Amino acid sequence: MAVPQPVGVLPEIHAECRDLVRNFGGIAGGHVIEAMGPITLEIRRGEFFSVIGPSGCGKSTFMDVLAGLTPPTSGTVTFEGLPVRGTVPDGVGAVFQEDASLPWLNVWDNVAFSLRHDGTDPAEIKRRVDEAVAFMGLRQFAKAYPNQLSGGMRQRTCIARTMVMRPRMILLDEPFAALDAQTRLLMGDELLRLWRETGATVVLITHALDEAVMLSDRIGAMSARPGRFLDIVETGWPRERDSSILARAEVGAVSSRLWGVLREESQKALDQSGRLAAAREGS
Ligand SMILES: Nc1ncnc2c1ncn2[C@@H]1O[C@H](COP(=O)(O)OP(=O)(O)OP(=O)(O)O)[C@@H](O)[C@H]1O
Ligand SMILES: [Mg+2]
Repeated sequence: MAVPQPVGVLPEIHAECRDLVRNFGGIAGGHVIEAMGPITLEIRRGEFFSVIGPSGCGKSTFMDVLAGLTPPTSGTVTFEGLPVRGTVPDGVGAVFQEDASLPWLNVWDNVAFSLRHDGTDPAEIKRRVDEAVAFMGLRQFAKAYPNQLSGGMRQRTCIARTMVMRPRMILLDEPFAALDAQTRLLMGDELLRLWRETGATVVLITHALDEAVMLSDRIGAMSARPGRFLDIVETGWPRERDSSILARAEVGAVSSRLWGVLREESQKALDQSGRLAAAREGS
C-alpha cells in the first residue's frame, strides 16, 4: 500500500463528499445542465488520488466544489471534519489548468504573492519562497519573468506559489495539460517528490490515463456527464516511486481496467456532444 498504515487502523479521512450534485442554469425556466454527481467519496489523508474522465464530464466542477470555489446544488463537502462553504478552507491549495502566473512579477515575486497578501512576516516569506523556488528547480530563474520561461517552468512557478502556503491538501486541475508528453512525465516526478516530502494529500484531475496510473495511490474513473465515480482503483504502488514505474508489468492491468470505463464513457460523452450539436442545428 502506498500510504503506510499500521495494521488494523483505518486510513484517516481528510476530505469527504456526501451525495454531491452540481447543476448549472435553470434560472427563470432555463435549461438545467447536470454537470456532476451524485458523488460520495472519502479522500484519505496523505494519499495521491487522481480523477480521470471524459472531456466535459464534470471534473473541474468537482474540483471547484471540493475546493469551496463553487457551492454544490445539494450534498456536503467536509475538509478535516469541517464543512466547506463558500471559501477555500485554510489548508487547501489549488493549481489550475491554465497558466496562472502573474506576467508583471518575476518568479520570486510570483511565488511570494499570496504570502505577502496573507500578512506573513517578511523573514518567513523569504525563507519559504527561497525554499520553494529551489525545490521546484527555479533558483537560476528567480529573477526571470513568466514570458522568459518555458510552459513547464511557468507551471512549476504556480505550484511553488501554492506550496509556500503549506497546504495540507493540494488540488490540481490538469496542471500539465499544455505541456508535451515528455515534460509531463518529468513534471509528474516533481509532483511525486513534492507529495512525498510535504506529506500533503494530493487530488489531481487529469484526462491522461498514463499520468494517473503512474502518479496515484487511487484513481477514480468518472462517467460521462453528470460525472459520477464508476470505479475506484487502488494501485498499491510504493510511496518511493517515479515515472519509471510505467515499466512495471502491473501497470497494464490497472490501465486496461480504467480504460474499459474511460473508453465507454468517452464514447457516451461524444454522443452527448453530437446530440447537443444536432439539437442546436435543429433549433
Ligand atoms: N459556470 C458554468 N455555467 C454553466 N455550465 C457550466 C459551467 N461550468 C461548467 N459547466 C458545464 O458543466 C459541464 C461539466 O464541465 P466541467 O468543466 O466540469 O467538465 P470537465 O470534465 O472539467 O471538462 P474538460 O475535460 O473539458 O476540462 C459541462 O457541460 C459544462 O458546459
Ligand atoms: Mg476541466
